[in-house]
Amino acid sequence: MTNEKKSNTMWGGRFAAGPSAIMEEINASIGFDWRLYAQDIAGSKAHAEMLAAQGIIAAQDAEKITRGLDTILSEIASGTFEFSPALEDIHMNIEARLKELVGAPAGRLHTARSRNDQVATDLKLYVRDAIDAIDDALRGFQAALAERALEHAASVMPGFTHLQSAQPVTFGHHLLAYVEMAARDRSRFADARKRLNECPLGSAALAGTSFPIDRAATARALGFDRPTANSLDAVADRDFALEVLAASAIAATHLSRLAEEIVLWSTPQFGFARLSDAFTTGSSIMPQKRNPDAAELIRAKAGRIAGAFTGLIMVMKGLPLAYSKDMQEDKEPVFGALDTLVLGLAAMTGMVRDLAPDTRAMRKAAGEGYSTATDLADWLVRVLAMPFRDAHHVTGQLVARAEAGKVALHRLTLAEMREVEPRINEEVFSVLSVDKSVKSRTSLGGTAPANVRRAARGWLKKLARQAR
Ligand code: ARG
Repeated sequence: MTNEKKSNTMWGGRFAAGPSAIMEEINASIGFDWRLYAQDIAGSKAHAEMLAAQGIIAAQDAEKITRGLDTILSEIASGTFEFSPALEDIHMNIEARLKELVGAPAGRLHTARSRNDQVATDLKLYVRDAIDAIDDALRGFQAALAERALEHAASVMPGFTHLQSAQPVTFGHHLLAYVEMAARDRSRFADARKRLNECPLGSAALAGTSFPIDRAATARALGFDRPTANSLDAVADRDFALEVLAASAIAATHLSRLAEEIVLWSTPQFGFARLSDAFTTGSSIMPQKRNPDAAELIRAKAGRIAGAFTGLIMVMKGLPLAYSKDMQEDKEPVFGALDTLVLGLAAMTGMVRDLAPDTRAMRKAAGEGYSTATDLADWLVRVLAMPFRDAHHVTGQLVARAEAGKVALHRLTLAEMREVEPRINEEVFSVLSVDKSVKSRTSLGGTAPANVRRAARGWLKKLARQAR
């Protein structure tokens, strides 16, 4: 026996010797693309059936191929299939096994196709399934948020700008903000799904094929809306993967912001919420600690997901048409980012369901920092008919007074207020409480509990309908 490996059985005709070990290591993708096995087998079955229907291969051969592929599917699913790096990728691993199982007919499967249209088809099918799983996960996340929002439609908390107390809002309103973000995330994925749903199969290596194939039939069999229109484009682009990674990066960014808020809320300094034991860890040295690890990891994972998008767009940049092996590098970022997003969504949904807000602490904080100053200014406009700019100025003076006396706005006496603006009367106190403040914000999209209740109920109804 010599050291030299046998030349590759798939293209061995032209090669005298096999690849070096390093070549095999850099070239093989089976370590990750095995995950495309179900899609690869579905594509091969659709292709074989079409070849038979078109009279390109014999019906008996197609039957043997199909049965062999079903066997392989169950072998891989049950973990008995042996993947070989020497066979490079999932496509050749499956084809080689098919040959062992059914013999000569296996060699006819690759008629009128190439690994280039095969892999593009497989990855599209994979991404399509992943989009559906992500949509489910996002819907569950929205439902958890909307349920908590309904429960806390009237729980007052400080609303922030610049992370400084700005105006009181309701906790429910805050949670519903994320429901809206998740809705746009879902529509981005749905949009990408529509665009990707054209079938590359039959584009062959790059130029199409001379065999009388029926591309509409394979497209239909695989659930695509139609075949792709240009064979070069079909094997050369991965924009569908980029779109989904971009949508994932945006969704992960939304998650990371909520994660950061949960980290803040659960500090003793804020004290707005307590995380359940299920989503916290203790410290090996500081017994008092409850660390929001899951939230921190979700916050961090946005970086990985955005990195996957950046990584793949760098791979694709400047590639000449059509296929180049560079594109084999598309899979790891796609698998990694989509797995990470699904996991992050599951963890965040659990955290939202379990979160125990401290409504008293939130309410107390909502009243600090002169958060109803805008309500006071609005009152001056409404009741005393002051121009808003003047009302702003008067309110500023009142805040300064309260600050000097180290009291809340509603603790100033009427006499003190009248020193600044003599026309102020008792009624002003009715707008200075945080409850009155949020109740008054009834404008469309505003934080009033009545609005929040209506919006949360609306979402819950809609989401329940979608779940069916
Ligand atoms: N493993 C390859 C990939 O993922 C399959 C396509 C190979 N095509 C080729 N012409 N070498 O991109």
